[in-house]
Amino acid sequence: MRRVYFDHSATTPVRREIAEEIQKFMTDYFGNPTSLHYFGRQVRKAVEEAREKVASSIGAQPGEIVFTSGGTESDNMAIHGIAMTNKNRGNHIITSAVEHHAVLNTVKALGKEGFTITILPVDKYGMVSVDDLANAITNKTILISIMHASNEVGTIQPIKELAALAREKNIPFHTDAVQSLGKIPVDVNELGVDLLTISGHKIYGPKGVGALYIRKGTRWRQTLFHGGAQEKLRRAGTENVPGIIGLGMACEFAMQEREQEARRLSGLRDRLIKEVMEKIPHVRLTGHPTMRLPNHASFCFEFIEGESMLLSLDMKGIAASSGSACTSGSLEPSHVLLSMGIPHELAHGSIRITLGRDNTEEDIDYFMEVMPPIVERLRAMSPLDQETEFAMESSCEACKVRSACRR
Ligand SMILES: Cc1ncc(COP(=O)(O)O)c(C=O)c1O
Repeated sequence: MRRVYFDHSATTPVRREIAEEIQKFMTDYFGNPTSLHYFGRQVRKAVEEAREKVASSIGAQPGEIVFTSGGTESDNMAIHGIAMTNKNRGNHIITSAVEHHAVLNTVKALGKEGFTITILPVDKYGMVSVDDLANAITNKTILISIMHASNEVGTIQPIKELAALAREKNIPFHTDAVQSLGKIPVDVNELGVDLLTISGHKIYGPKGVGALYIRKGTRWRQTLFHGGAQEKLRRAGTENVPGIIGLGMACEFAMQEREQEARRLSGLRDRLIKEVMEKIPHVRLTGHPTMRLPNHASFCFEFIEGESMLLSLDMKGIAASSGSACTSGSLEPSHVLLSMGIPHELAHGSIRITLGRDNTEEDIDYFMEVMPPIVERLRAMSPLDQETEFAMESSCEACKVRSACRR
């Protein structure tokens, strides 16, 4: 069967060149980078070269990069570290309603520890307003964390403008750039951020590795792990050397290929969006129409459940997702779509197509060949389809929101 992978925001395949290289750091170059002997020294050198590559891909200094186990840890480390280090200055943290749970749940956990939390609303495109941030800042605000680009709807936030406000007030600004790195320019000085999260497996590197950028001079200290003095006391634990080597290479490739690949992918994305909107009735594009990631298309289909679409697509060999990877499988519609004012029943019909290096025009042709009949068939069967009179009559009376009926 033809297989098409359209879920690059969930994860990406490790590039073959990277997989081959990191293999050597499990067998041939296996030393502990902390060891002073030859075996340790040669690995330390490779780790520091990887740090330079990561730093250079975001315009940072190598000393400002801390290796972590991925995006989730970097987000936790950034937020918890700033909160704990600055709690004598204030207790107010600002984030947005569309953040990944790695940010949102970390901030909410701090809310239970006595911090005051403001979760900024977004507009119908999932965009945070600069005015809303300006109004939310108080003299107790010690951290602002707003993501660079949305994993769910692809919307790119005005980070430069938001971070400038924080800078004026001397408030540390963190951004989660897990989805933006490798797709749009990410430069810590251009954006004016103090902390920035990246993850290896979204950019054709390995899973279980990431990095946190911490601007020199930021009042942050390590608060999560107690242990050894690795990463200059910023992250205890023996380094994930193969992962770090892979992350360095992935960042280097991303830097070299980003512009050209973004141009190619945005062409495919625009064609996909145009054809879906033209050929399939009752579909809404979610996320910003133009300020969106070049590889990202997301929709809500009326009168259908996202999961049924995903399963039908999977049976045709197409891998897509509904909502974020972490929430698919949950019965609750995505918090991101709800925060954009999309009604529950429509949010249940969400689907996300995220393109990557291996996708071609033929993949879009194939999708457009199989998707319209899938939608037609599911709608014909669906109790949610207003046009299906019998189905409507027999749908569950107990359910006020039609799509909530899962009996
Ligand atoms: C925006 C965003 N932040 C953080 C993460 C978590 O990254 P990781 O899987 O490396 O922990 C993800 C992964 O889906 C993400 O999309």
